[in-house]
Amino acid sequence: MKKGKGMQFVGDSRITADKTRFIPKDYSEYPGKTEAFWPNFLLKEWLVGAVFLVGFLCLTVAHPAPLEKMADPTDAAYVPLPDWYFLFLYQLLKYKFASGAYFVLGAMVIPGLAFGGLLLAPFLDTGKERRPYKRPITSLLMIMGIVSVFWLTYEAAEHVEWESRVEANKPVWPSEVEIDTESAGYALYDQNGCLQCHGESLEGAVGPTLIGVTDKYSVDEIKDIAVKGIGDMPAGQFEGSDEELQQLVDFIVSVNEQAAE
Ligand code: HEC
Repeated sequence: MKKGKGMQFVGDSRITADKTRFIPKDYSEYPGKTEAFWPNFLLKEWLVGAVFLVGFLCLTVAHPAPLEKMADPTDAAYVPLPDWYFLFLYQLLKYKFASGAYFVLGAMVIPGLAFGGLLLAPFLDTGKERRPYKRPITSLLMIMGIVSVFWLTYEAAEHVEWESRVEANKPVWPSEVEIDTESAGYALYDQNGCLQCHGESLEGAVGPTLIGVTDKYSVDEIKDIAVKGIGDMPAGQFEGSDEELQQLVDFIVSVNEQAAE
């Protein structure tokens, strides 16, 4: 039978010239089971690819990536959590044998052995068998790997209070507040440096957003913070008369009222 039907063969570096019996039969020797790469095969590939692409696009529209509020380096109570596909590594670091003094084990050695083994599998396992049950060691290691990843992910997710977490870290979208830059309060907000740390629209910068402070503090407490500072905010920010301090806090309150609408 004429081989190749005009196709070009490329050399296969795994087969030496004297071992021609390892060369697989040509596709033309399987009549009816062969198809042209172009356009038949490529069209099928493309169709499947397009279905998945559109599927993923629909998924991203229906379930947008869950965002949390803007990162706040001053918030020590925030527990960072990796994306779901890294939860198993995160969970590993919670076990005593892989954390604390042994964190190198959990952070590098165990994942390194697992992923390094996967990377080197073609070189370590050179057996000719292809059926999983004829390669018990490799298959067993792989199954153990998959089971541990699933188990660790489950364990990690199980211990997160998702609802309260989502509630506490809701994104604060820049509200459509209109700042009256002509007002005396705004001028004081700017002159006293509040603007630099808390942002032009109170949206936050180095310091946290001041949208929502009126729910947390009374007017007098905000005045107190402006003068004495709080936590990482240094004292002595505000310098001026009591009347000016009132104007400044009035400004913060008015922006908060607008934002609450
Ligand atoms: C050097 C930067 C900086 C300046 C200037 C500054 N702040 Fe702050 N402010 C901060 C930081 C940082 C925090 C967070 C403190 C913490 O909780 O540890 C904060 C917190 C606050 C809070 C409490 C916010 C909350 O949600 O708990 C208020 C109110 C506040 N600032 C008002 C003001 C006012 C009014 C001014 C101007 C007089 C001002 N700040 C100037 C950095 C600054």
